[in-house]
Amino acid sequence: MPVPHVDSIAEAQAHFGALLERQVERVNKIKDAGDPIDYTQLNPLIIGVIGGDGIGPSIAAEAQRVLEDLLAEQIAAGKVEFRTIEGLTIEHRAEVLQAIPDDVLAEIRKCHVTLKGPTTTPEQGDEWPNIESANVAMRKELDLFANVRPVRVPAQGIDWMFFRENTEDVYAVGSEGISVGDLNIDFKILSNPGNRRILKAAFEYAQANGKTNVTVITKANVVKTTDGSFLDAARTVAADFPDITWEGWYIDIMTAKLVDEKRRRDFQVMVLPNLYGDILTDEAAEFQGGVGTAGAANLGTRTAMFEAIHGSAPRMVREGRAHFADPSSMLRAGAMLLSHVGYTDLGARLDKAMDLCGQYEKKLVMTGRDTGATTHDFGDYVLETVRADDLEERWQTAIDAALAAGASL
Ligand code: IPM
Ligand code: MG
Repeated sequence: MPVPHVDSIAEAQAHFGALLERQVERVNKIKDAGDPIDYTQLNPLIIGVIGGDGIGPSIAAEAQRVLEDLLAEQIAAGKVEFRTIEGLTIEHRAEVLQAIPDDVLAEIRKCHVTLKGPTTTPEQGDEWPNIESANVAMRKELDLFANVRPVRVPAQGIDWMFFRENTEDVYAVGSEGISVGDLNIDFKILSNPGNRRILKAAFEYAQANGKTNVTVITKANVVKTTDGSFLDAARTVAADFPDITWEGWYIDIMTAKLVDEKRRRDFQVMVLPNLYGDILTDEAAEFQGGVGTAGAANLGTRTAMFEAIHGSAPRMVREGRAHFADPSSMLRAGAMLLSHVGYTDLGARLDKAMDLCGQYEKKLVMTGRDTGATTHDFGDYVLETVRADDLEERWQTAIDAALAAGASL
């Protein structure tokens, strides 16, 4: 599927016309989305585990092992069921030329929520056909409009929650750009219902979690139509949340202020269009130990998918280092899954275990090579930590010690 290349403006107009029709249809569906699902009413709750490719299967397996342990009682009582979903690999996707092969999508649809390992995304000029990213396709296919990404470094006062819009912006039709002669064009699309629902999710989160401020990030001073509409929507949505203050920030200065130690701890909830969110959340994750340590929730009205925020690390696999991949991102994603489906205490416990293993006690360190621990050994370490009776005390002691040691708060 090469990028369409046309010679005349008339042909480009036809391409654009068809694209617009599909987008109008998509936006109409947003308006018809039903009420959000109540996961606590499901019996059994079905959790699908999608290994993905590259380092995906091995890091997903560790997360599954820990979740199955935490949910052992519920599994035994038949309240929770895990299913493994095979086939979301670059090889299978390239073979059938589909971002998500039909058989895999059918299995995904049978689950209430999924935990997904990273998948390889082809880019122009590599060995794979130009199929769309599986992540992007799944977000669009299941209308997972909110990409929720937490970054926490308790000892530095960092406790951020990002609400990245997940289905629009340059991602909406990222594989449907067009070249007209020497002009190469992609399309950036934001819709009013799309803006409203992500902004509402961010403000609702703030309200439900005792946060007082929401930062709305755009480049509306330059990208006036689309980013301007996001900012306009923020004004409207914010009016329904009088107890929450909000500020508009531009993405460039926002990126700078995240490295300002004095200023950055004031940010609480950040909400932004898709591409800015993609970039800013990678930067943010770096303070916590890198993208390998960050998980994400992709939330829709009827289902949700939890994943690592990084890619499938094909280089690690090529160099025979896949078994040294850090499973922290998938474990963090697992913690979000637990909280989202109603096991909030278990989710919080897993997060604390991850803080200890990854940031404070660090009895095992992941380096991505044989100088560090293996994926499986790290999984064992997390399992042992999350099961420990003194987890809470150890966590509090570790945070206090880090603060006393003069961590920059
Ligand atoms: C992410 C990833 C994806 C994205 C890639 C793999 C397409 O970077 O989840 O942030 O850009 O959204
Ligand atoms: Mg990204």
